Amino acid sequence: DGRRTVVFGEGNPSAPVMFIGEAPGAEEDLQGRPFVGPAGMLLTKMIQALKLPREQIYIANTVKCRPPNNRPPQPDELAACRRYLDAQLALIRPRVICALGRTAANALLRTEQPLGALRGRPHTVNDIPVIVTFHPAHLLRHPEAKRDAWADLQRLFPYLS
Ligand code: URA
Repeated sequence: DGRRTVVFGEGNPSAPVMFIGEAPGAEEDLQGRPFVGPAGMLLTKMIQALKLPREQIYIANTVKCRPPNNRPPQPDELAACRRYLDAQLALIRPRVICALGRTAANALLRTEQPLGALRGRPHTVNDIPVIVTFHPAHLLRHPEAKRDAWADLQRLFPYLS
């Protein structure tokens, strides 16, 4: 309810790495593009630091419409959007996925484990390896976690060579 634009996802359809966030925010809802607000700017910096140009990756969210007031997506909303996410995974077949934050990781991996239990070890979804790290919005509030996020992101590289 109340969303302006469907934020489907964007990027290279042959991307070797796909980043998956939670849900569009206010700026994403206006522009129809994922991760273009403040958290998106940090995500862009993180991706640049990895020397992965934004054009070479694909970015999507677990739900395609902004939840009212940025509340976390509800189970029925996640279920409604899952078929689109699974289709994106099937079409792009990235070599590795980076799940951004607990909500994205829990939805993607169909688990309720906290982020601390999911970071630092590999997972799979639809036979694609998944690396879990902090959501960039969390890193904006807790810059001290950036060091750990950087270590998480290094785990993408073995899948990319
Ligand atoms: N946060 C998300 O999880 N996704 C976006 O697209 C923007 C902010």
